[in-house]
Amino acid sequence: MLKKENILLVDDDIQILELLQRHLTSMHYHTYSAVSVKEALYILKDTAIDLLITDINMPDINGIQLIKYMAEHYPDIPKLVVTGFPSIDDAMSVIKSGATEYITKPFTKSELADAVQKSLECTQHRKSKEKVFPKAQQGYGEMIGTSEAFKEVVEIIERVKDNHATILVQGESGTGKELVARSIHYSGKFARAPFIAVNCGAIPENLLEAELFGYTKGAFTGAFETRNGFFQAANNGTIFLDEIGNASLAVQGKLLRVLQEKEVTKVGSQKSEKLNVRVIAATNSSLTELIEKKLFREDLYYRLTVVSISVPPLRERISDIPMLVSKFLQKYGVEYKDRLVGIAPDALEILERYPWPGNIRELENVIQRAVIMSDGQVTVKHLPEQVKFQIDFPEQALKPLKQVEKEYIEKVLVATGNNKTKAAEILQIDRKTLREKLK
Ligand SMILES: Nc1ncnc2c1ncn2[C@@H]1O[C@H](COP(=O)(O)OP(=O)(O)OP(=O)(O)O)[C@@H](O)[C@H]1O
Ligand SMILES: [Mg+2]
Repeated sequence: MLKKENILLVDDDIQILELLQRHLTSMHYHTYSAVSVKEALYILKDTAIDLLITDINMPDINGIQLIKYMAEHYPDIPKLVVTGFPSIDDAMSVIKSGATEYITKPFTKSELADAVQKSLECTQHRKSKEKVFPKAQQGYGEMIGTSEAFKEVVEIIERVKDNHATILVQGESGTGKELVARSIHYSGKFARAPFIAVNCGAIPENLLEAELFGYTKGAFTGAFETRNGFFQAANNGTIFLDEIGNASLAVQGKLLRVLQEKEVTKVGSQKSEKLNVRVIAATNSSLTELIEKKLFREDLYYRLTVVSISVPPLRERISDIPMLVSKFLQKYGVEYKDRLVGIAPDALEILERYPWPGNIRELENVIQRAVIMSDGQVTVKHLPEQVKFQIDFPEQALKPLKQVEKEYIEKVLVATGNNKTKAAEILQIDRKTLREKLK
């Protein structure tokens, strides 16, 4: 029963951080910890924070500066100050800077609980949360990416999310096919209806039909009662048929009927039921090859590909790697180390060079492992051997100069937060040339 509130803790004193964290976790809040203002800003950038708790005296940038910054950039987040100096002057400057509440060290757990409660109550910031935290244009919902290949995928998602057209999502393993399907559902107007994911490869062939369409009592041994299938459960929403290439020819025939007639028939029943379900299917094997081998029905293939989305492999969207890495560093840093974990530039370069046969899932696993092994900074030694020693470049990995230039420009833009003036400066070209190149 985790409370929904995310609390960001900022203190250079690890012991206070741990104390705060222990107390707040026991009160069922979710906490993020930062040992400096800089780390705090990173977390704020892409996490929806409901309350800030900060110390005042910290090296480099102090808490007052943080509060002033937040008052300007995140005015709706309440700010609770924990200070060791309960002088009147101090209290005044704290309140003037825009803090919502303050407590003095040492504090008891109930003092903390009261202050947190009051801070959270005194703003009704939650209603505007979405507006205050646009995802910094780093992608689309949960999907990270700004590369051309990624944008093409997003364009199709935008076009199909609000209608019930059948969609086939194709792509290598780990490219994000399921995430694409979820994004279509959850960003569209049927988002409130169910999204049901079915892995056609994981359900034994003789059960798949009953699981998908339901069955009537007595339809087969063990069918003690009439039951709905995944299709009925997904009514008005989306059914995601993962690994569709694994469906038997018999199930394929039934699916074809569902798509043509918009109705399903339970196993053992004569009656059909009308349904209104969007079907999104996914596969990482080539369906056209299966068709040639007579393992997949051609007519079903055409029904499924009303809209077809190819999710690009990671090696074709290298410019997205730094962003993905930083997302996973943050995710696992917070999970395992309770802080932000960075990465050394040469380690990042290695990650950008590796061809990622297992795509984003492989990248995520590599970062997860590296974070566990690291001490706050991922370096080359935390990367697995197969990633490090990818020295031979297969010929198709060698690229034309134009493409390298394009990718590099994208990288600089990402690094400068899309600041074209700064990017032009780094690239030592004028803004006009940069603009032309961007076209
Ligand atoms: N654009 C993205 N941004 C952030 N994370 C992503 C993105 N695409 C995929 N992921 C993450 O990568 C992992 C793999 O994604 P997903 O399961 O959707 O891939 P898949 O193509 O269905 O893989 P498989 O073929 O192995 O089933 C997930 O943890 C997902 O959250
Ligand atoms: Mg999948």
